[in-house]
Amino acid sequence: MDAVNVAIIYYSATGTVHALARAAAEGAEKHGAQVRLRKVAETAPPETINARVEWAQHLKDTADVTEAAHDDLEWADAVLFGTPTRFGNPAGQLRTFIDTTGPLWFHGRLANKVYSAFTASNTAHGGQESTLLALSNTFYHWGGIIVPPGYTDPIQFESGNPYGASHVAGAGAPGEVALEAARYHARRAVDVAAALRVGRTA
Ligand SMILES: Cc1cc2nc3c(=O)[nH]c(=O)nc-3n(C[C@H](O)[C@H](O)[C@H](O)COP(=O)(O)O)c2cc1C
Repeated sequence: MDAVNVAIIYYSATGTVHALARAAAEGAEKHGAQVRLRKVAETAPPETINARVEWAQHLKDTADVTEAAHDDLEWADAVLFGTPTRFGNPAGQLRTFIDTTGPLWFHGRLANKVYSAFTASNTAHGGQESTLLALSNTFYHWGGIIVPPGYTDPIQFESGNPYGASHVAGAGAPGEVALEAARYHARRAVDVAAALRVGRTA
């Protein structure tokens, strides 16, 4: 069987979600998948970005990451979206990309794929779950197969988020538990996408 195609499409202002996205890419790759790690375009005005040194720095540091395109969604068997929480919701930058996908949706090109999402917030109860659930609304519209990590691996009892890998950025950069949860999240998406492919070709 050909390798499962996994697109990891994320937005990150200051690097936390980027670190989770890289861990997810590593998890999927080591699990035999072909991976495209893609950022969405920055849409915030320069004065907003430059008001935070870490934001401006991260933008520079990730200048070489390819921007997400519709082809990445069409190519993928599984898509993992990463976003910081913004007032309990996905970041506008990620929504802006998602809101360009109407034609793909209309032609049924987004249906029947595995979808899942990961996030970061500054505080422990700052909206991680609502952010992930909000993204699920879109997956329902697309006719996606939502694959959450649940508590299907011991790492989930340490990371504690069955909705998707996540990290509290206010506690510092993601440590090994958060990174392993992101790797596991991606492995699970690969497994389900592979099983679907086997089932469809049977
Ligand atoms: C406009 C805005 C809204 C935010 N809203 C929340 C929030 O509702 N809850 C929270 O805990 N953190 C909130 N944050 C903090 C971000 O979620 C946090 O900085 C982010 O997860 C870090 O991820 P990044 O390093 O990938 O950008 C907000 C940040 C900004 C700029």
